Amino acid sequence: MAEQYVIAIDQGTTSSRAILFDHGGSIVSVGQKEHAQIFPRAGWVEHDPEEIWNNVREVVALALTRANKTHHDIAAVGITNQRETAVVWDRTTGKPVYNAIVWQDTRTQKIADELAALGGGNDRYKDRVGLPLATYFSGPKIRWILDNVEGAREKAEKGQLAFGNTDSWVLWNMTGGVEGGIHVTDVTNASRTMLMNVDSLTWNEEIAAEMGVPLSMLPEIRSSSEVYGHGRQGGMVPGVPIAGILGDQQAATFGQACFEVGTAKNTYGTGNFMLLNTGTEPVPSKNGLLTTVAYKIGDAPQVYALEGSIAVTGSLVQWLRDNLGFFMEAQDVEYLASKVEDNGGAYIVPAFSGLFAPYWRSDARGAIVGLTRYVNRNHLARAALEATAFQTREVLDAMNADSGVALTELKVDGGMTKNDLLMQFQADILDVPVVRPKVAETTALGAAYAAGIAVGFWKGEQDVIDNWAEDKRWTPDLESSERDRQYRLWKKAVQKTLDWVD
Ligand code: G3P
Repeated sequence: MAEQYVIAIDQGTTSSRAILFDHGGSIVSVGQKEHAQIFPRAGWVEHDPEEIWNNVREVVALALTRANKTHHDIAAVGITNQRETAVVWDRTTGKPVYNAIVWQDTRTQKIADELAALGGGNDRYKDRVGLPLATYFSGPKIRWILDNVEGAREKAEKGQLAFGNTDSWVLWNMTGGVEGGIHVTDVTNASRTMLMNVDSLTWNEEIAAEMGVPLSMLPEIRSSSEVYGHGRQGGMVPGVPIAGILGDQQAATFGQACFEVGTAKNTYGTGNFMLLNTGTEPVPSKNGLLTTVAYKIGDAPQVYALEGSIAVTGSLVQWLRDNLGFFMEAQDVEYLASKVEDNGGAYIVPAFSGLFAPYWRSDARGAIVGLTRYVNRNHLARAALEATAFQTREVLDAMNADSGVALTELKVDGGMTKNDLLMQFQADILDVPVVRPKVAETTALGAAYAAGIAVGFWKGEQDVIDNWAEDKRWTPDLESSERDRQYRLWKKAVQKTLDWVD
């Protein structure tokens, strides 16, 4: 085979990356670029889709140059992305009609409340789409754009506008944009819109109508692993098949080889997302988790997951850096946190976007509790890391309750898994071992596998299993009475953020 590599584009919340993988699933080169986080008002979060597209082009070129390769060396391209973030663009000009409304944005609270008030409350659509009504998902964000951008609804009704999460935006541009770009998404991204029937994987016309979203705006729903199209001539990867799309959390689940029912992974990014493979039938949650599609490889039946989504984990560390000036580099949080024995009694509940799983309370707001004059910057740095671990414990408890079986170890990945202090505390507070694979970039890797499998570069899931290797394991080492005490205090702190309603 002439082509030796697969490229994954990871269009994330804080940055876009391109990673070149070889056949063994090892990283050959990386290109990465951050984009601006736009906060026009409290609770609003936007990205500029054109900046994102330019960055994607740049990072792909960078990854190729760094490896001294060209598109001739690439067998396929896979795309993975921040999910739910809504881009609406004009098919005739190729321009977005508004900034992308990011998954963390809470401006659609009123829309969600109005829909809930039609009957059924927050669970109005849950049996059909697997999700509670919340500001998190794409559907209400599309509605907001059509309601608030002048002329948008009229254009949408004429079929002139297209919607996509950033996977569709990148794919449309890569395959030609106004000159014939293809408008497609995969089942995992579609399952985050609130508009897709989670069992039949088709758009739900009734919900779309109720949400005020014309069906003509929506991309065609395809599997996560098939050739959707090819890089446009004159583009960065001309003629190369684009053959895999997975939402980033689903991509990490795939890259972590969670193929058996009951296997789970937790990714530590701007937020944390734990997914548990539940097999080929959707399982409804009774404990505040989402029913979502994990992946669908070509014509094979789709596989489902229960997901515990946590909005703010790594982005709390960024907040300490950017808004409070605690340190210059995010990784310095570990140095500060390690200067103290414990959190000094302080707990930070980062409900910046409300609270996601298992609460789904968009109106909650963040709190720092337990302050005395004894508490210093180091304690707060520690409390910020602990917040990630405590939130993960809440999600794991919900998963154990939903599935009826206790997880015996947790596979982890993502940037924060480099942080030893956090990983040890995570194992302590969960009371199960935490295991990190050699390639911790499992998000990009999962998308690369989906693309590579579609073109025969990899044979299938067995290759993914064979390439997976353990790098490090943290084992619990905390008295159960101490674990219980700390978790009880955390729960009390969470209650404060639920009580804080404007
Ligand atoms: O649902 C949001 C999630 O897809 C974002 O992931 O890694 O960009 O924070 P990340």
